[in-house]
Amino acid sequence: MDKLLIRGGARLAGTITISGAKNAALPILAGTLLSAAPVVVRNVPQLNDVATTITLLQSMGVEVTFDDKLAIEVNAGNVRERRAPYELVKTMRASILVLGPLLARFGEAEVSLPGGCAIGARPVNLHVQGLQAMGADVVVENGYIRARTDRLKGAHIVFDVVTVTGTENLMMAATLAEGETILDNAAREPEVVDLANFLIGMGAEISGAGTSTIRVRGVQELGGTDHTILPDRVEAGTYLVGAAMTGGKIRLNRTSPEHLEAVLLKLREAGAEIQTGDDFIEINMHGKRPVAVDIRTSPYPGFPTDMQAQFCALNALAEGVGTITETIFENRFQHVLELQRMGADIQIEGNTAVCRGVDKLTAAPVMATDLRASAGLVLAGLTAEGETLVDRIYHVDRGYERIEEKLGQLGAEIKRVRR
Ligand code: UD1
Repeated sequence: MDKLLIRGGARLAGTITISGAKNAALPILAGTLLSAAPVVVRNVPQLNDVATTITLLQSMGVEVTFDDKLAIEVNAGNVRERRAPYELVKTMRASILVLGPLLARFGEAEVSLPGGCAIGARPVNLHVQGLQAMGADVVVENGYIRARTDRLKGAHIVFDVVTVTGTENLMMAATLAEGETILDNAAREPEVVDLANFLIGMGAEISGAGTSTIRVRGVQELGGTDHTILPDRVEAGTYLVGAAMTGGKIRLNRTSPEHLEAVLLKLREAGAEIQTGDDFIEINMHGKRPVAVDIRTSPYPGFPTDMQAQFCALNALAEGVGTITETIFENRFQHVLELQRMGADIQIEGNTAVCRGVDKLTAAPVMATDLRASAGLVLAGLTAEGETLVDRIYHVDRGYERIEEKLGQLGAEIKRVRR
């Protein structure tokens, strides 16, 4: 099995280009099911989760053609299967995103209950309730969600909690429903906006994406489009934290600073000098040790839960004490146990991790437990004394495109090994 071997100590320096956003690519690829016309999607990141989504689409009869410039053409003109089997869904919770599009276009869908990251219960009740409110018959039996409808009907849906994929699933379903759907307390993440723009390109009538009220007026059918996926803000944030932890100076090209405000604020608090332009971010730590920061995760535009593990790693070796409160997912502190094995002084009290920065982390064999936890461990390895071996990096490969190459470009000593 592949592992990452990291020799800590190098200060990150140089320039890299940020990839397309995983969390936009997945719903957009699922959204291609809404139309019989060919669709081109550009800036698609080469990630395990994207490969899983493409395999899922192909298993339904969708034709996917790859071009060499990260563009793919998807043709869902001939969908034979309206089913997402457990074997595919279990590795990636976002497979639930095919439920809304399949049901809206074909009037039937069967999707396994998802697995995915082991970061808490992560139910899909709000996806199911929303589709029921739109008139679908939905039953959950034998581990599958089975849904049927003649045609979905517009509805007013108020989400109990802000859910990103829940908002996306219902927004997609509503594009082909009869009448208007209003989604209240909707997720405001940039990836929701990117999906809305993609759907609008296909002819959907959507307004308010990026606010907490999204309105969708259903149309009879959607057509083709050519869409470029927005940059991955979590990938960008992860490399910025790496620079801050190593006292480095890096530049990220093809990124979107306006989507990283909460993260940039915390990096500045940690002592980083940051410059931004329309599509780049430069960070300079001037060789200093970071100062510990307090963080509370919340839905966008708040501090993203997907950046929490990376800041835990930063606090682990920062000057002072920092608290990290996780409000979105219970059980999202598995990286803390591994960081402790590298010498970190972190105590978990309920949903808060209290980190007392140590002067140096020390290398250890560590195990990735979920996607972002694994990023935190890689960053810790960059600073640790000695060689850190990160196991189970298929988690890293779900969400980071060629992480060892990009970190290598920035001067880190990191390689992929098979042992
Ligand atoms: C998405 C992101 C993930 C990110 C998360 C929170 C994708 C593919 N994944 O995950 O990277 O960490 O948003 O920003 O975009 N909930 C319910 N019932 C539901 C759905 C959700 O109670 O039906 C709860 C969850 O348990 C959680 C909260 O809502 O406590 C937010 O989860 P949600 O936004 O749905 O996460 P995902 O969309 O799965």
